[in-house]
Amino acid sequence: MHLKIKAYAKINLSLDILGLRPDGYHELRSLMQSVSLADELLMQPAPELSLAIDNSDLSGGEDNIVIKCLRQLQRETGTDKGAEVALRKIIPLAAGLAGGSADGAAALAGANQLWGLDMSLEELSCAGARVGSDIPFCLRGGAAVVGGRGELLEPLAPLDFWLLLVKPPVSIATAWAYHAFDAAGAPSGQGTERLLSCWRKRDLQGIAGALANDLLPVARAAYPEIGCILDDIAGAGALGASMSGSGPTCFGIMPDRERAISGCHLLAEKYQVYLCRAVRQGIEVIKEDVK
Ligand code: C5P
Repeated sequence: MHLKIKAYAKINLSLDILGLRPDGYHELRSLMQSVSLADELLMQPAPELSLAIDNSDLSGGEDNIVIKCLRQLQRETGTDKGAEVALRKIIPLAAGLAGGSADGAAALAGANQLWGLDMSLEELSCAGARVGSDIPFCLRGGAAVVGGRGELLEPLAPLDFWLLLVKPPVSIATAWAYHAFDAAGAPSGQGTERLLSCWRKRDLQGIAGALANDLLPVARAAYPEIGCILDDIAGAGALGASMSGSGPTCFGIMPDRERAISGCHLLAEKYQVYLCRAVRQGIEVIKEDVK
């Protein structure tokens, strides 16, 4: 069996940090949305685990989240089956888009099929949560309110809209952003509740006006270009703009396809821009050859 799987990036329309947990992680409440920007994984059965990546900035070794997820699955199920994985990396690295978690989620779902494990989404989520906080969301995808450390999901009715993502030429480590938030002693917001009331009314303009991210002040203080990018996204016709996750990627919600395309052309003169749509899944098996 050969599988070709799309692993979709996510953005945080809101990110409330509710406090520090005893395990050192932060208690979150976030409205997350999968977007059409995606990596691609090819998987086939093999005696061992191996990972080839078309990006030399990433290691294909035991420290890669794909291999970590597959090892976790081997441990939890007791299987000694392996897989040959080839990863085509499109989602920018360390960008606040959960690119690594999306790849890990795709690997878990792929191995579940390749190895005939018959595990439920919940079981795969539990295995994934032990490897990375965003993996449970990436497995399910679409739109959801995420709680806990990232493992509690409340799926939402889907909403279709167009977005522009702008990736500044810097990387932000997630752990750094959370530590900076703690050090700043910043109060956390209530962004998710406001956003949810607009989401339930299917009010895209209201959603775009209620975007919120508790990590934005610390990221913008360290990288002032983030503030300029948010202004430029608004100037390119967005209904509203914010930063995703721990950044530095910023996004704008666009009123329609035409204005998303024209805004994309405008921003592309200065920035690395991605034209995207909201999508209804986190991973998608797009080709399956059974031999
Ligand atoms: O789970 P993951 O490896 O994605 O998390 C990366 C880092 O982000 C953690 O080491 C932690 O510092 C921070 N984090 C957090 N609270 C969360 C998720 C992530 O503090 N809920």
